[in-house]
Amino acid sequence: MTETEKLRNRLNLLLQFGEVVYKETRLGKLLELIAAQLKKALDCDRCTVFILDKKTDELWSKVAQGIQDSEIRMPSGKGIAGEVATKDRIINIGDAYGSPQFNREIDLITGYRTRSILAVPLKDAGGNIMGVFEAMNKNAGPFDSDDEGVLQLISSIAASAIENARLYERLYQAQLETIYRLAMTAEYRDQEDTAVHLKHVSAYTALIAEGMGLSEQEIENIRSASPLHDIGKVGIPDAILLKPAKLSETEYAEMKKHAGYGGKILSDAASDLLRIACEIAESHHEKFDGTGYPAGLKGEQIPLYARIMAVADVFDALCMPRVYKQAWPPEKAREFIVSESGKAFDPEVVKGFERMYHEIIKVAAGNKQ
Ligand code: C2E
Ligand code: SIN
Ligand code: SIN
Ligand code: FE
Ligand code: FE
Repeated sequence: MTETEKLRNRLNLLLQFGEVVYKETRLGKLLELIAAQLKKALDCDRCTVFILDKKTDELWSKVAQGIQDSEIRMPSGKGIAGEVATKDRIINIGDAYGSPQFNREIDLITGYRTRSILAVPLKDAGGNIMGVFEAMNKNAGPFDSDDEGVLQLISSIAASAIENARLYERLYQAQLETIYRLAMTAEYRDQEDTAVHLKHVSAYTALIAEGMGLSEQEIENIRSASPLHDIGKVGIPDAILLKPAKLSETEYAEMKKHAGYGGKILSDAASDLLRIACEIAESHHEKFDGTGYPAGLKGEQIPLYARIMAVADVFDALCMPRVYKQAWPPEKAREFIVSESGKAFDPEVVKGFERMYHEIIKVAAGNKQ
């Protein structure tokens, strides 16, 4: 390859890198992506992105090919990565084992043999060190000054993507916390019971969605939005909501308004999550055969998330004691769900429920007492 071709190649890789990396907002996935792209750009065997954990003063990494999904942690002053992080400088060495700074512990864990190593600091927009980029074992010869330049460039793009992902995660966490707190206020009968019910329906809906083969994004959507399904119960008078007995016909009619109230409370939201929560709140008591409330929607007229919610909600309501009824044994609740396939429930959702029943029952058993 001529020098010009090489340059053009690298430029292309850099352009691609920015495009690919900015789309990913999940930190773990982002780090994997960055490492994979780096490997390509530098024609090397392995890349590690270390993130500085200021609380514990450690450098941690999830991206260690070979030992999948495990996390590496080391004190922030240790090894070549530590030197780069504390001294804010680039280190480029051809023979790692000949360097007194090299920390062999990680090689010992991974069974990997590091030869050449190029490490640069990862800095945020304010110039603060966020972590370290390491490229290991270049395929042909040691890393050169071109490689250093590429790694520095990529590192600054990656740093802003990482900051972005962290910000996004923090916002998402704040949103989830708000959702839980909001949902808790709606059903204040027994705070502990409510918390358990919310955790259960959150886990059940996610498991059912998984059993139906929905995407990761859809699974997370319903996991996060489902706790709000009964938010409309804030509008139901205590005398009805807290009644420790069967409801009269008029009381039950009043109670059923909670679905419409929930839909109103959550209507016209700007966030995707609240829009999904709105569908769920409004339609979780619709039945597949059209005999539910409030609108009597039928089949696929009922939003998919609400069809999933219905199964999770009824299963948990049956398995838990209520002021007006005893808890059912899970096996009986399962039979009920299956017997309502095609009537109250979407058969595809029931199939998803059946497929994941083993996991669902673990959640149910975990928090009962
Ligand atoms: P929930 O207790 O969370 O129950 C949710 C859904 O689970 C119910 O929706 C119903 O479809 C199902 N479910 C709950 N318990 C039973 C049961 O013993 N047998 C059967 N076959 N299904 C059951 P539904 O009926 O639309 O009720 C909505 C909400 O109204 C309930 O939420 C609960 O808060 C309240 N509610 C319903 N009936 C009574 C009652 O007799 N007394 C009181 N105090 N509240 C009631
Ligand atoms: C080091 O930074 O000293 C070694 C880290 C590694 O092997 O990944
Ligand atoms: C689907 O609803 O996408 C398929 C569910 C199934 O295989 O049961
Ligand atoms: Fe409800
Ligand atoms: Fe519920």
